[in-house]
Amino acid sequence: MNIEKQKHTRERKEEQGQKIVVITGAASGLGREALEMLARSDQVRLIVAVVRNSSLQDLAASLEEQGIASYVRLEAVDLAEPQSIDLLIGRLSDLPRVDVLINNAGLFMDRRESNSIGIEKQMMVNYFAPRRLTLGLWDLLLRSSRPRVLNLTSRLHRRGSIDLERFASQTESQDSITYSGAAEYANSKLALTAWTCGLARRMGGRATLISQHPGVYATGITRRLAAPLRFLWNVFISDPEKGARFIVEAALKPEIASGSYLDRDRLSRPAALALDQAFQDKLEEATERLLPTT
Ligand SMILES: NC(=O)c1ccc[n+]([C@@H]2O[C@H](COP(=O)([O-])OP(=O)(O)OC[C@H]3O[C@@H](n4cnc5c(N)ncnc54)[C@H](OP(=O)(O)O)[C@@H]3O)[C@@H](O)[C@H]2O)c1
Repeated sequence: MNIEKQKHTRERKEEQGQKIVVITGAASGLGREALEMLARSDQVRLIVAVVRNSSLQDLAASLEEQGIASYVRLEAVDLAEPQSIDLLIGRLSDLPRVDVLINNAGLFMDRRESNSIGIEKQMMVNYFAPRRLTLGLWDLLLRSSRPRVLNLTSRLHRRGSIDLERFASQTESQDSITYSGAAEYANSKLALTAWTCGLARRMGGRATLISQHPGVYATGITRRLAAPLRFLWNVFISDPEKGARFIVEAALKPEIASGSYLDRDRLSRPAALALDQAFQDKLEEATERLLPTT
C-alpha cells in the first residue's frame, strides 16, 4: 500500500472511530456537565446538544468561551410537544449517522400539566419524547457500526405502577386533585425502562439499548420539590459532575450488553415489571394507540 493510501485509510479509520453523539437536556444539570465532558473527549467527533430555545444563546456563548463550540451543534426543541420533536428529527436528517443517542432530558412536576394534545407532561418528556426521538433517528442510528441509545431513568421506576387503561386515556381529563407528581414521575420512568428493555429484546443485536439511573444529585430536577426537602437535597447530595461521568462512561465504553440497566456504573436488575414481556407489549400497543410514531 503506498503512503498516500495508508494515510487515507488511517484518517478514515480515525474518523470512523470518532462518534457522533446526540444528547437531550444539554443546557443544564447532568446533561450540561456531560456535554462539556463529551466535547473534550477524543472519542467524540460531533455532539448535537438538544436544548430548549430559551437556552440556546447562553449555551452557545459559554461553549465559545470554553473553546469547545466547534465540536457542538445546537438544536432547539420542546420535548413536551411531539410536533417539535418531529421537526428536530427532520433537521437532523443531514447527519451522516448517529452513533450514540443520550436521552437525558427529564422533568419532575408537582402538579398536573398537559401538553397541547392532552398528554401529561412528565409522561411526555420522560417517556414519549425519548421513544419518539429514538424511533425517529433509528435509520441514522443503524448507519453506525455500533449504535447505542442511553436512556436516563431513575431508581424510582421501581415505585411505578402503570394502570394501562388509565394510561391509554391520557388525553381525557384525569383528575388533577388525585394527581401525584412523584407517582407520575415513577410511572414515566417505569415506562421508559420497560420500553428500553422491550426494544432491546425486539431488536436483537442491531443496536445497544441501555437504561441508567445516574445517582442522586442537586440539579434543576429538584426545582418542584417542597422547600425543606429541596434544602436537604441540595446540602447533602453529591456533585452533578459525578453523575455526568457515569453518563459519559455508559455512552462511550465499548462493552455493554443491550438491555442492560445500570445503577450509576453498576449493572443491576430493573423492576420485575420492566422485564415483563407481556407488560412491555401491552405498553407498546397502548403507546402507539395514544401517540402513533408514523
Ligand atoms: N438529579 C437526580 O438526582 C436524578 C436522579 C435520577 C434520575 N435523574 C434523571 O437524570 C436526567 C437528568 O436530570 P438532571 O438531574 O440533570 O435534571 P435537570 O437539571 O432538571 O435537567 C433536565 C434537563 O431536561 C430539560 N428539559 C426538561 N423539559 C424539557 C422540554 N420540554 N424540552 C426540552 N428540554 C427539557 C431541561 O431543560 P431546562 O433546563 O430548559 O428546563 C434540563 O436541561 C433526567 O432524565 C432525570 O430524570 C436525575
